[in-house]
Amino acid sequence: MAPVDPHSYTDGEHPVVSQAALAFYLDFAASTIHASALLTLAAPHSGDLLLDTRALAVHSASTVADPPEPIPFSLAADPDPVLGSALTLTLPPDTTSFRLTFSTSPAASALQWLAPPQTASGQPFVFSQCQSIHARSVFPCHDTPAARITFSLLLNVPAQLSAVAAARHVARRDPLPADHRGACDDELWCASGRIVEEFQMEQSVPPYLFAFAAGGIGFRDLGPRTRVYAEGGDKVLDEAAREFAGVEEMVKVGESLFGPYEWERFDLLVLPPSFPYGGMENPRMVFLTPTVIKGDAAGAQVVAHELAHSWTGNLITNKTNEDFWLNEGFTTYAERRIVEVVQGEERAALNMGIGWRGLNRMMERFKDNMEFTKLKPNMAGIDPDDVYSEVPYEKGFQFLWRIERQIGRPAFDKFLKKYIATFKFQSIDTETFLEFLKTNVPGIENQIDLKLWVEGTGIPPDAMEPDSSTYKKICALAAEFESGKLPSEDEVADWSGQEWELYLENLPTDVEASQVTALDERYKLSESRDYEVKVAFLQLAIPTGCKCYFNEVEKCLKQVGRMKYLRPLYSTLAKCSGEEKMLAQRIFSEAQEFYHPIARSVAETILSKHS
Ligand code: BES
Ligand code: ZN
Repeated sequence: MAPVDPHSYTDGEHPVVSQAALAFYLDFAASTIHASALLTLAAPHSGDLLLDTRALAVHSASTVADPPEPIPFSLAADPDPVLGSALTLTLPPDTTSFRLTFSTSPAASALQWLAPPQTASGQPFVFSQCQSIHARSVFPCHDTPAARITFSLLLNVPAQLSAVAAARHVARRDPLPADHRGACDDELWCASGRIVEEFQMEQSVPPYLFAFAAGGIGFRDLGPRTRVYAEGGDKVLDEAAREFAGVEEMVKVGESLFGPYEWERFDLLVLPPSFPYGGMENPRMVFLTPTVIKGDAAGAQVVAHELAHSWTGNLITNKTNEDFWLNEGFTTYAERRIVEVVQGEERAALNMGIGWRGLNRMMERFKDNMEFTKLKPNMAGIDPDDVYSEVPYEKGFQFLWRIERQIGRPAFDKFLKKYIATFKFQSIDTETFLEFLKTNVPGIENQIDLKLWVEGTGIPPDAMEPDSSTYKKICALAAEFESGKLPSEDEVADWSGQEWELYLENLPTDVEASQVTALDERYKLSESRDYEVKVAFLQLAIPTGCKCYFNEVEKCLKQVGRMKYLRPLYSTLAKCSGEEKMLAQRIFSEAQEFYHPIARSVAETILSKHS
């Protein structure tokens, strides 16, 4: 056994699955997918083959011969809490393709099933979130970014619904008996009132980028290769279309900076509020939280970030989650380059400032576990969801920005374009990046302590706080708060959510309740429609012992399932003793049904750590 990834059972001595033909029958009543997969290996193989699964019921494995021969298989009985259960198949000599039939669990960690009362359209809804290691709860696969696949996907759904996927849409058509390959029986697959949405992904992608959604989804075209999808009807779609009107322009900016956009279309899907992230870079179909639609710069920033992944992440992927910074650090850098062109240098610098503060906060969070302040941490036995942080984003950004400062922007831009062209459609590790850097920027290892940046803990001394006047002004105002000074109406007149976020996050954490309420009385932050602002404020208010915000905290935790908000609110509450902790437990018990399984499990971990 030659492990290739601490988060997968994939054996490096065996060929990987390089192609999957998937047929899914979506049973909304049972929150279950009945499925078949025709899997093709990169090379013929005999004997044992290991695949990743989590909470899947595997019904059969067979050859593609006519008639098919059964293939012996076993599913590890005792699932590993991080990895799930290895599926071991014993393949006949020289097997290249084989078939599996299986069903997902209603508790599949990638999937959230929403009942009609939980959606805006009044129709059922389901969506997937596979990053980092949840694709294995949808279909048996080599669930490591080192193994890229192409796939076809048939989604059999009730005819009143439509489906989208991170793939090319081929057709919406009637189901055919030949489609399902044993996913379920013909009667079920071809029942009246069912429809098949057919997709094809010809570009190879890591399994964490596999994604689909189905529900009462409508759309608006934004440009020749951009469209926004959402559930919830005309009002939501009109708002979304307005918010994302500039997306085509942004794709062009991306192309001018990083080379051709290789994915043909750049569509967006606005998800229900329980979507656990701000955005997810599913190729051709970025998934977004509805909380980004608020008509200011922040929505565009999230889109710029997910778009940037089209080059740094989806084209060049990290080989394992230990190299995650190659994905998010490069993307954060690329995002800020796009923001700089679209929204100006000052906005980009402000974003850097918010990132810099975030990075510094992470040093505090991980002070007893400095491993996770490394660019390349050891992740064996660690669930990536539990240690998700700004470190790979912001330390990765700082590293690349440091290199840019060393060699100058024109040389760095040339380097970046060559890096993308060289490694596109590959999954690489940090060592490969460093080799490429040293080859293309001779002598760089004598100018920058690469080892310290990659292997060291903490923030290297040659990292840099951004030099932006807005950023500095806001930090200075925040420093005055301690002596009792609130910012004046004039000073905040042109502030949007990001400025407030930076201000609030810079305030001292041990402030008096009276000061916090005075700030809120003047600026109504606890009721802000901008969750970034609202959460930053509540996080400050909770430890002051002021109970007057319990109501807003509860509303917030019950309305939005984005982990960026759940994490700080639940941990701030849980760290307090007494009523706050009890409040957290009660809210969680009432809200957990509304959360995506990933968010539910993260919130549960936080609460159990402080119980
Ligand atoms: N790929 C990430 C989201 C992610 C990371 C999902 C790890 C699962 C595991 C996405 O590109 C991202 O970084 N989203 C940010 C957006 C922000 C940086 C603009 C988010 O969700 O907050
Ligand atoms: Zn990202």
